[in-house]
Amino acid sequence: MLGIIFTELADYGIDKVGLTNWNRAMAELQLPSQGAYTTGQRYDDGEAMRVFNWLGETTGQSVRLLFNEFGYRLFDTLRQRTLGNYMIDSDFVRFLKHIDKTTHDKVRSYFPDSSPPDFKVTDTEGGLVMHYRSDRKLCFLAEGLIQSSADFYQTDIQLVHDVCMHQGADHCEITVLIHD
Ligand code: HEM
Ligand SMILES: [Zn+2]
Repeated sequence: MLGIIFTELADYGIDKVGLTNWNRAMAELQLPSQGAYTTGQRYDDGEAMRVFNWLGETTGQSVRLLFNEFGYRLFDTLRQRTLGNYMIDSDFVRFLKHIDKTTHDKVRSYFPDSSPPDFKVTDTEGGLVMHYRSDRKLCFLAEGLIQSSADFYQTDIQLVHDVCMHQGADHCEITVLIHD
C-alpha cells in the first residue's frame, strides 16, 4: 500500500504505545523498511499486519479494535493529504455511493501505484450495504473509515457486519444503518 498509510500507521503506533515502545517494536520486528516510511513510496502490506499483531499483543486489545481506531484517524489524513476537496460530496449517502467510482477511481489515476479495494454499494431498508472485496481483507479498517466519514458528515450510524471474509465468506457486507 501507499506510504501515506504507513506514515499514518507509525504516528498511530507512537500515539498508542509511546515512542520508546514503538522503537522497541521496530527493533523486534526487523521490518524490511525498519519503520522508516516516506509518504510517496510503497510498502509491503505484510509490514502493516505485523505491526497490528504486535500492537494487539502489547496492548491486549483486539486487532479489529485497533484497525477501527486507525481507520478512524486515517480518514482525516486521506481527506486532507490526497484528494483534498475532490472527495467532498453533499451528504454522507452520496459520499458512500461514490467511494468506488469517484473517490477511489481518482486515487487510482493520481497514484498509479495504488490499488484501492473494490466496493459495490446497494440500498437496503434504512441504509446502504457496502460490498467489500480485497485480498487484503481490511474490512475492519473500512469500518473505521466509514465511522469517521459519518462523523465528518454529522450522520448518526450503526454498522452491521455479518457477512465477513474473516468468517469464511468470499467478500464482506458492511451494512450502514442511518439514523435520522
Ligand atoms: C468510507 C470511506 C472509505 C472507505 C470505506 C475506504 C476503504 C479503504 C480500504 C479498506 C482500503 C485498504 C486497501 C484494501 O482494502 O485493499 C483503502 C485504501 C485507500 N483509500 Fe480508501 N476508503 C474510504 C475513503 C477514502 C478517501 C476519502 C480517500 C481519499 C481522499 C481514500 C483513499 C485511499 C487510498 C489512497 C488508499 C490506499 C491504496 C493503496 O495504497 O493501494 N479512501 N480504502
Ligand atoms: Zn469483513
